[in-house]
Amino acid sequence: MNKKFAVPRGTSDILPDNIPLWEALEAKARKICRSYGYREIRTPVYEDINLFKRSLGQTSDVVNKQLLELASSKEDEGLALRPEGTASVVRSYLENSFDKKELLSKFFYIGPMFRGERPQKGRLRQFHQIGVEAIGIDGASPFLDAEILALAMHLLQEFKVQGLKLKINSLGSKEDKENISSWLRAEFAKHKDELCEDCQSRFERNVFRVLDCKNELCKKAVNSVVGKDKILPLSENSRYYFEYVQKALKDLGIDYEVSPHLVRGLDYYTHTVFEITAEGLGSQDAVGAGGRYDRLLDDLGGNEKTEYGAIGFALGIERILLATGKTQGEPQTIDIFAFETQAEYQPRIFKLLSDLRKNGISSATSFSGGSMKAQMSRANKANARFALIIGDQEFKDKTVSVKDMSTGQQETFPLSEVVEVVKNKLK
Ligand code: HAM
Repeated sequence: MNKKFAVPRGTSDILPDNIPLWEALEAKARKICRSYGYREIRTPVYEDINLFKRSLGQTSDVVNKQLLELASSKEDEGLALRPEGTASVVRSYLENSFDKKELLSKFFYIGPMFRGERPQKGRLRQFHQIGVEAIGIDGASPFLDAEILALAMHLLQEFKVQGLKLKINSLGSKEDKENISSWLRAEFAKHKDELCEDCQSRFERNVFRVLDCKNELCKKAVNSVVGKDKILPLSENSRYYFEYVQKALKDLGIDYEVSPHLVRGLDYYTHTVFEITAEGLGSQDAVGAGGRYDRLLDDLGGNEKTEYGAIGFALGIERILLATGKTQGEPQTIDIFAFETQAEYQPRIFKLLSDLRKNGISSATSFSGGSMKAQMSRANKANARFALIIGDQEFKDKTVSVKDMSTGQQETFPLSEVVEVVKNKLK
């Protein structure tokens, strides 16, 4: 027997019954993002691997362990599937000189992302994000941080995700990050033996990651260094900026919690970072996350004289669906299921279908014939609103019987008029 294939580990098929659910979610996302003035952008699913290495940071797990490289031919060398959307959007922003066209560019995207992770509940190798990025010379306002956070929460509330919690933190400017990094290294040096194996190596490569380690001993060390409620030691400007963001959130009535331990796994962040969790998801409970990445523009070749501001977030669609417990959308319906009772009448049904479809009426048929009962049951299964039937009498009289599937009422019309009749009935 030939080998049967299965969907690759960490990926899944989105089957026709689930498509309406995805379409509805995507349609809502598009509508809400547009209402905040964001415009859709579609970038390729793969990019130069160095784009990701340079933006996400050589020490991040995503670059270190999870980049899926394409190397099927010489030409493909140096390419990787995108693990996230921010780097690609910044690449496109600079490549298409948006900075010369507008003061603030506001983008959103919906699409698949790829990470070579160890699959588990809520953690996939191919997953989908709804992402939002605001980039530009006008992008350095704390009100923009608040707008971005408001949009993320608005989307999740509209998707009916329960038990939402928003955690925010500030990592300060690039200079602050360097100072805090030295400070943390000096402080954690006093606790180095207490840190887990991962943190021993993080300590050298990216000491910030020690702050969000889940290991109990590391948590204890972190608490003694940073304390439970304190914020990281920021410069006055950064502290002031963070306070302004919080004030704007309060004005908008958005609940949040400041968490000095929130550092995020991607290196490009400065200033505001955030994560949104939901109820009932277990350990992978982040439905969305994001933050400010002003300096990434310079790192990816932006104009040196320009002071860019940039901030964004991404929501995980699979986690949103898990959190809402929705696995199946509304059953799909079709306007017409048309059938004949004798194989020789089939050409007439086939021509009728073509006319219906050209008139925008969705319609299907069975290609195998069968008894009246069997055909009606297929019409039912297809969730058809009307069945169109050509039996012996109808064939002879050049008519079609139209059966309303919900009331069971049946009427007969001339073949030449039936498309118009159905069109009116569907109005
Ligand atoms: P991220 O935190 O890596 O950030 O991912 C954002 C969201 O994508 C997560 O909160 C989660 O819901 C979902 N997600 C991530 N990895 C997986 C996975 N393996 N399986 C299922 N869902 C997953 C980013 O990607 C940044 N680009 C966000 C951003 C935009 N920052 C600024 N702009």
